[in-house]
Amino acid sequence: MAEQPTKQDTPAEPPHPRGRYGTARLLEPHLPPPLVPRSIGWAGCFGGLAFLLFMIQAYTGVLLLVYYKPDPARAWDSVTFIKSNVQMGWLIQRIHTVGADMMIALVLMHMARVTYYRLYHPPREYHWLSGIALLCLTLAMEFTGYLLPWTNLSYWAVSVGVEIPGSVPIVGEPIADWLRRGPIVSGETLGFFYAMHVSVLPAIIVIGLIAHYIMVRRMGVSKLL
Ligand code: HEM
Repeated sequence: MAEQPTKQDTPAEPPHPRGRYGTARLLEPHLPPPLVPRSIGWAGCFGGLAFLLFMIQAYTGVLLLVYYKPDPARAWDSVTFIKSNVQMGWLIQRIHTVGADMMIALVLMHMARVTYYRLYHPPREYHWLSGIALLCLTLAMEFTGYLLPWTNLSYWAVSVGVEIPGSVPIVGEPIADWLRRGPIVSGETLGFFYAMHVSVLPAIIVIGLIAHYIMVRRMGVSKLL
């Protein structure tokens, strides 16, 4: 009787030339090899973690939109309703609030790393500039989002915050009026900040992130050593 072939005798199946489903390498000819140098170190994760937090913020933000009302008479009640009546609402609201602070912390840590390694020099100066734009946009997200619960604290914090550009000679006051949509923080400001927070700023951030990633992907992550 012929002997059964053992596992060692069976030749390994050759890998499919275009990946298991034929799609894995469709884009491959158009991209440089995804090299991440060994020297990158643990601090190299901050940019990716900032991106992860951006996605968490987008997801929890969309969930909050289901119940939030951008109206001075109802904004505070709607946030209280989310926190106390909506199932898991308190958790989603907390994640979104804490996530906003964490995202800023991670973007600053990422910036500290690239600054420490002087990655603002050519050929990465445009990575740096797009990063500065992303930092400003992230701060603008925090500022516009802060007003949305329409609490005493958020009202006065935004009133004082808008005074900062307002103190610039000549152009300051028109800028402050434009941000407030009038001489004081009001329902108009809430509507404007809401529109910026949920649509305009996230859309610009997504465009900025795409540009940032294309640059990193084309150039490859720096070798550092
Ligand atoms: C929303 C904010 C941001 C996100 C999600 C983000 C994400 C990333 C990711 C994932 C990388 C590739 C991995 C790495 O090297 O860390 C990267 C690279 C880079 N980022 Fe950012 N970034 C942001 C903001 C910034 C800021 C504020 C700066 C500086 C002003 C900056 C400058 C750079 C530079 C110079 C590189 C290239 C680093 C290298 O080649 O090693 N980024 N970014």
